[in-house]
Amino acid sequence: MNARHNGGLTPPNLGLRALMNPEPIFESRTMDDRPFIPLHWTERLHDDMLRRAELNYSELSERRTTRDFSDRDVDRRLIELAILSGSTAPNGAHLQPWTWVAIRNEELQKRVREAAEHEERKTYSERMPEAWSEVLTPLGTDAVKAHLTDAPWVVVLFKQKKRQRSNGEWGPTYYATESCGIAAGMFIQAVHNMGLVTLTHTPSPMGFLRELLERPRHEEAVLVMPIGYPAEDAMIPDIHRKTLDQVAVFFDEQS
Ligand SMILES: Cc1cc2nc3c(=O)[nH]c(=O)nc-3n(C[C@H](O)[C@H](O)[C@H](O)COP(=O)(O)O)c2cc1C
Repeated sequence: MNARHNGGLTPPNLGLRALMNPEPIFESRTMDDRPFIPLHWTERLHDDMLRRAELNYSELSERRTTRDFSDRDVDRRLIELAILSGSTAPNGAHLQPWTWVAIRNEELQKRVREAAEHEERKTYSERMPEAWSEVLTPLGTDAVKAHLTDAPWVVVLFKQKKRQRSNGEWGPTYYATESCGIAAGMFIQAVHNMGLVTLTHTPSPMGFLRELLERPRHEEAVLVMPIGYPAEDAMIPDIHRKTLDQVAVFFDEQS
């Protein structure tokens, strides 16, 4: 239903704000006949908001990039739900400029690993500037990418640099890099929340993935994410996150 034509009725599911607001909460906000629908939003009490915020932060604090995977299988529906979660991301002009390629295929994973390791060997031995290896050393990474064949799933996120317009011409997408970054973050959060682990792997350069995974020229691989259970003896680097003071600046006149 178009918001303009709903006769001012308060729809269900709008929560306290709708009940407390005597004014009609809808107004015409479109310049044409595109449909608008009421926002589904639930007002929460402050204590509940705080509890949820703390719980969310505490759960996210537990997330760690994992490089040692078990070969234990993972139900495809879980991967589908992670992809659907990632695809709820806000994105430039709602073009949803992403394609998720989900692989559970030993032969293909082997080929991805071989090609990735081929590039990574060159990167680690010839291409990597000293300033880069300096920050990678504490993470213990090298050109061996066993996670690509150990993990039951590998999801490759492709960014769509162009889109086909309704007149058949090709046009740009907007903020596709930012959009894919946000989508990847939400995907990673979903994977963590369901009790699995992942790694944001960026083999450098990544051009080989387009050909191997048969993606069109206007798509560019941005992240390779193995997903699964951690290996029983999985180890992670002992690194620490910056504090709030180190990452945030507030202009807050109330404190
Ligand atoms: C864009 C991006 C690229 C990354 N590339 C790699 C990579 O190629 N190989 C790797 O082992 N880790 C990679 N990482 C993982 C980071 O090293 C890791 O997130 C960081 O050390 C923080 O650790 P945490 O995720 O456990 O908090 C990447 C992460 C991001 C966000």
